[in-house]
Amino acid sequence: MLRTVVCVSGGGTNLQAILDAMDAGRITNTDMIAVISNNAGAKALERARKHGIPDVVLSPRDYPDRESFNRAFTDKMCEWDPDLIVLAGFLVRIPESMVEKFSGRIVNIHPSLIPSFCGVGYYGLKVHEEALRRGVKVTGATVHFVNEGMDEGPIIAQKAVAVEEDDTPEILQRRVMEQAEWVLLPQTIDDIANGRLTVKDGHVYRGGKV
Ligand code: GRF
Repeated sequence: MLRTVVCVSGGGTNLQAILDAMDAGRITNTDMIAVISNNAGAKALERARKHGIPDVVLSPRDYPDRESFNRAFTDKMCEWDPDLIVLAGFLVRIPESMVEKFSGRIVNIHPSLIPSFCGVGYYGLKVHEEALRRGVKVTGATVHFVNEGMDEGPIIAQKAVAVEEDDTPEILQRRVMEQAEWVLLPQTIDDIANGRLTVKDGHVYRGGKV
C-alpha cells in the first residue's frame, strides 16, 4: 500500500477527485493516511473528514518564524513517513529539509503547461489571468515531482486544454480543473502506487522504459 499524505489549502476539489477515484477503484494500492492544511477554514478539510481521513492543521501564523514552522511541518511529515506526499492546491512552500528527506516522493499539480506560467507568483487564478493576458490558445495542467526549485521538478504528466475566446480566468480555471487536473492527479497516484513510473536524469518514464 502506498501510504499517502495530501497537503491542501483551499477548496479541495483535487482532493475530492482523488477520494472519488479511490472509491471507484481507479486508484489502487493506496492508503490516504492523512490530510494536512495550513488553513483551518479550508473546505478541503471538510471533504477529508467526510471521508474519515485524519487531518492536521499547521499554519505558519501559529509559529514565531518560518524556520520553526518548517521544523514542525517536517517533523510531522517524518512522524508519518509517507511513501508519497501530494500537493493538491497547497499554497505553502515546501521546506528544503522536507524536499531532501522525501526526494522523489513529493508530487505537485500546477494549472498550466509547465514551463509556461509557472514559478514564483504563479498560483491560483493568477496563472489563468496571465494565460488570458498573453492570449494563448491552449493551456492545461502539469503534475511534476517537487525538487528544490519552484515548479521545476521532473514532469510526470501534462494535459492540454483549449482556451475559448470569451473565457474569464474563473471559467478557464474550472475547465482546466475538470478536463486536466482531476484526471491527471488521480492517474499519477495510481501510476506511482502500481510502480509504473521511473525517473532517470530528470525525466519521467511511464511503463518502466529505462
Ligand atoms: C488548483 O488549480 C491547483 O492546480 C492549484 O490550486 C488549485 C487548487 O484547487 N495549485 P482545489 O483546492 O484542489 O480545489
